[in-house]
Amino acid sequence: MKITINQAKDYVNQEVTIGVWLANKRSSGKIAFLQMRDGTAFMQGVVVKAEVEEEIFQLAKGLTQETSFYVTGTIHEDARSPFGYEMAVKSIEVISEAHDYPITPKEHGTEFLMDHRHLWLRSNRQHAIIKVRNEIIRATYEFFNREGFIKVDPPILTGSAPEGTTELFHTKYFDEDAYLSQSGQLYMEAAAMAFGKVFSFGPTFRAEKSKTRRHLIEFWMIEPEMAFYKLNDSLEVQENYVAFLVKSVLDNCALELERLGRDTTVLERMTAPFPRITYTDAIELLKEKGFDDIEWGEDFGAPHETAIADSFDKPVFITHYPKGIKPFYMPEDPENKDVVLCADLIAPEGYGEIIGGSERIHDLAVLLERIKEFGLDEEAYSWYIDLARYGSVPHSGFGLGLERTVAWLTGAEHVRETIPFPRLLNRLYP
Ligand code: 4AD
Ligand code: MG
Repeated sequence: MKITINQAKDYVNQEVTIGVWLANKRSSGKIAFLQMRDGTAFMQGVVVKAEVEEEIFQLAKGLTQETSFYVTGTIHEDARSPFGYEMAVKSIEVISEAHDYPITPKEHGTEFLMDHRHLWLRSNRQHAIIKVRNEIIRATYEFFNREGFIKVDPPILTGSAPEGTTELFHTKYFDEDAYLSQSGQLYMEAAAMAFGKVFSFGPTFRAEKSKTRRHLIEFWMIEPEMAFYKLNDSLEVQENYVAFLVKSVLDNCALELERLGRDTTVLERMTAPFPRITYTDAIELLKEKGFDDIEWGEDFGAPHETAIADSFDKPVFITHYPKGIKPFYMPEDPENKDVVLCADLIAPEGYGEIIGGSERIHDLAVLLERIKEFGLDEEAYSWYIDLARYGSVPHSGFGLGLERTVAWLTGAEHVRETIPFPRLLNRLYP
């Protein structure tokens, strides 16, 4: 019977064959312990000299790291291993030998590992992180489908720039200029006017010269957009969505979180609702905490976000930012024209902003004025302005950064580990 490692629980005391790679090995004169992986999970194979043909025992002892082979044996329950099962190996059939695999069980520097990202992905820790990423992706589709959202895919090659023009990747589109999408939002607003509640999930690009543990050049964003939703309605969707992601990961990735050494007790607290604080109150809070390097009107840096987040035991919404530091599409607060109807969601434990969102201007005159004020090309935005021309309604939306969310839930220090092939300031390889 050919199975995969994650099916082992259904084959206890049965003889099975699994296609695997050798992750690691320990052996003595009498016994060899093979750490095997097949992509679905990791499992130990035990080869006892007295119980197998001599040839098989010698073969097992000589296996080199990342050699691929078919292994046949009986599955046993094993209370000592976190996986819960191991295999008493009977025979081994080598598929392809690997020699001098560059990533050994010893410590390697980050640059070395990043240069070998195509191989590093096979390691236990990277495997666990990408599995959590996959669960977040799965849970995202479950959540938005359950809530009645329609998935709409915005274009990646675009002629406009929702988040400002400084961070755009330029390319030629035959004779025209084009940019890689930095956000699908404006298209999602058009989609919301057609379908009510929509979400997108795709790659976005920022030509930012940032080299922090939170910045990627290419990252994935989930962008819901909802017609007839005000800021508060949107915040409710956001907290329910994020709480659902956390619960899904806790429920379905227990083994991965354990392998990562993630403290799950802090994650268990992450139930909706989440606290809210205005930007203005957050500035006050920072002053009380002794930060005198920031004035009202300036954007928060990472240390400010971390200090604010540390005052709460859940993710916190910072709302009503100054107009001057936010994009053109955010409407003024009717009660205070200096701030806009927006919120960022800041994750705990220093993981920073995971969501940016707002209400959107739907008044034609206000929108035209804002586009002028920001020096944007009215013609390029003509289709977007049409949305305000033809039956616009109040609407809100947000964007959740997948990699920062993965970093938070897995406890990864840096977002470079949260995406299979990271694009960083100085890295396009592999
Ligand atoms: O705050 P941002 O720039 O918001 C937007 O793009 C809006 N148009 C979204 C919307 O309302 N539809 O980006 C949203 C999120 C951030 O909170 C962060 O999690 C992530 O995207 N993000 C990044 N993640 C990794 N690397 C980067 N360089 C990122 N820039 C933003
Ligand atoms: Mg933002």
